[in-house]
Amino acid sequence: MGSAQSRRITPGANPTKRKNATKKNATKKARPRNPATQGTPVAPAKIIQGDCLDHLSRLAKHADRFDLVYVDPPFNTGFAHSARKKRGARAQGETAYDDSWGGLNNFLDMLRPRVTAMRTVMSDVGSLWLHLDHRAIHDTKIILDDVFGAAHFRGEIIWVPGNGSRRRSGPGVTHQTILIYSKTLEMIWNGDDPALREPFAATSLRTHFRKKDEDGRQYRDRTINGKTYRYYADEGRRLGSVWSDCPAMNANTPLSDETTGYPTQKPEALLERIILASSLVGSRVLDPMCGSGTTIAVAARLGRPAVGMDRSATACRIARKRIR
Ligand SMILES: C[S@@+](CC[C@H](N)C(=O)[O-])C[C@H]1O[C@@H](n2cnc3c(N)ncnc32)[C@H](O)[C@@H]1O
Repeated sequence: MGSAQSRRITPGANPTKRKNATKKNATKKARPRNPATQGTPVAPAKIIQGDCLDHLSRLAKHADRFDLVYVDPPFNTGFAHSARKKRGARAQGETAYDDSWGGLNNFLDMLRPRVTAMRTVMSDVGSLWLHLDHRAIHDTKIILDDVFGAAHFRGEIIWVPGNGSRRRSGPGVTHQTILIYSKTLEMIWNGDDPALREPFAATSLRTHFRKKDEDGRQYRDRTINGKTYRYYADEGRRLGSVWSDCPAMNANTPLSDETTGYPTQKPEALLERIILASSLVGSRVLDPMCGSGTTIAVAARLGRPAVGMDRSATACRIARKRIR
């Protein structure tokens, strides 16, 4: 997971090659690291190959529980997804996983026992974040309401990958949805983390934040029910439920250091926000359908011991390499 800056060039290697490699790396887009999370010791991470249903049933017999489960299952697209031949190459290589189920009902029949097993391994302050798109999200919500109880539905994130619409007919679809459920009525929620803040709108800054304190910080005071609250412009406002600042392209372009070539890879910035929102340093994190291991790599970097599972050998190979 080295950034472009930290990539090492083997001493004594061919100088021309070395020059080219430096040039190539210089054009790679390194993802800026969240300064607040730097210095956290990397936690252990493990990838297990196989159907998560089998592994989850085994894990359920142990006392250790997970504070965060993020799962990004197949989307019921109806076709097989191939990995790139090599990282960065355009040509399609081996099939990474098949996403044809012969209809929505079969897909849901696959998902139900697995989300039930995910709930079993969650801690009492744990949450499940389940990522799908318009093809199956609505029917899956009915299943999750049943498995977790509708009162444990805590909200949803509309993630805007930023690729635009690819549909030639009918309304365009430019978002995916992440449903959030907690095991009990408690869940870890770090609402004040800088990862969950965004800048105030420019009009709001112009209209409301006209005063400055003795340190020169812009602020506004609001009185609500007789109590006055101070808001600082530089602290930003709480982030809403539409996230459009974690572009998918960071995970899918050869120009980006985090791209592995695995199909449907999610961007690290998205997982970083989810992990910072709903787990603590030392919390155990699980991704039972981990693909290229995005969740696992980010969780480990943020000091959360992480377990990834995937039944695709290609996924496990890429994920293991990534966490090494
Ligand atoms: C959408 S991809 C996950 C991509 C991942 N979030 C990433 O960033 O690379 C879905 C993954 O679910 C895996 N999968 C499907 N059914 C599974 C099962 N029963 N157990 C474990 N993994 C499964 C597939 O092999 C595939 O890698």
